Amino acid sequence: MLLLNPGPVTLSERVRRSLLQPDLCPRESEFFDLQDEARARLLAVYALDPSEWTAVLMTGSGTAAVESMVASLVPEAGRLLVVENGVYGERIAQMCAQYRITHDRVVGSWMAAPDIAAITARLDAARASGAAPFTHVAVVHHETTTGRLNDLKPLTELCRARDLRLLVDGVSSFGAETLDFASGPLSAVAATANKCLHGVPGASFVVVRREALAQAASRTYYLDLGRLARLQEQRNTPFTPAVHTYYALVEALRELEEQGGRPARYGHYAALAERVRTGLAALGIETVLPPVESSVVLRSYRLPVGLTYHRLHHELKAGGFVIYAGQGDLAKTLFRISTMGNLTMADIDRLLTCFAKLR
Ligand SMILES: Cc1ncc(COP(=O)(O)O)c(C=O)c1O
Repeated sequence: MLLLNPGPVTLSERVRRSLLQPDLCPRESEFFDLQDEARARLLAVYALDPSEWTAVLMTGSGTAAVESMVASLVPEAGRLLVVENGVYGERIAQMCAQYRITHDRVVGSWMAAPDIAAITARLDAARASGAAPFTHVAVVHHETTTGRLNDLKPLTELCRARDLRLLVDGVSSFGAETLDFASGPLSAVAATANKCLHGVPGASFVVVRREALAQAASRTYYLDLGRLARLQEQRNTPFTPAVHTYYALVEALRELEEQGGRPARYGHYAALAERVRTGLAALGIETVLPPVESSVVLRSYRLPVGLTYHRLHHELKAGGFVIYAGQGDLAKTLFRISTMGNLTMADIDRLLTCFAKLR
């Protein structure tokens, strides 16, 4: 069975086999070697300078990393503006409410790019009102809800002009899409092992500027980013990590490097995603978003009239492929196909053959 859902992904045999390595005590030096290698390789994916950036690992899914980033990096006296255009932006706002972080939301359509004019107006209104000024902005890079790749450039410019820090949910983009870490306002990116990096679920991480960590708040116990970072720097760990998922993450990162690194992965996904798009278009199935607004990681397609998602899912599964429905109300009108994981062009051609048989 090939997984075309947005993670966890289809593993390579090499990553799968890495799970069978020797048992490892997480208080022994062998584990800390593994942890060090994972952290160094995560920075290397985007060629980041370890004196400026650090990768902080945690045991948990992508949500854990996003929660750790948001709960830790907005200081006690800070104020966060959450930019929402999908399920995962909404989730960041829910985290803020849960931790009672002072925040506002700019809620946009799930079908549209973030409205920079509305975001600017919200920031300026806060300044003019004399209320506590915003210190941070949070956004989802790739909104997996629809496959939209949010353009971080205008938001980054806005943050730079107003001296704000940008926190990015890169859960479904880190490892494939471009991320401009050199831009000053970017403080942190939260992501996970089991999407574009092709590891297994259970390990996630925040790549964070060291200077941002220096001002970290401590609202959460298990996900306290400052403490996790401090102990990992000392070749230590506060809790029992999911050791085997770290084995898989390191193996997946080695494989990524050998395959040409992030740019090569981007190119591979782009080729697969375009084959899916053109193949489905030939069958009369259109993308929901124009390709230029979509990621190469996942795209949404309109369900053809007369075909229910239930039947589509069932028939494709019988052919060896798992896909995802749309989220929320979108479940009735669209389906999603991810091209993450150990997939080849021949796999996509087999998928298209399954689609052709449906008609
Ligand atoms: C953009 C984004 N953020 C957060 C998450 C949550 O990740 P997880 O399900 O691993 O907790 C996902 C999951 O698909 C996602 O796509």
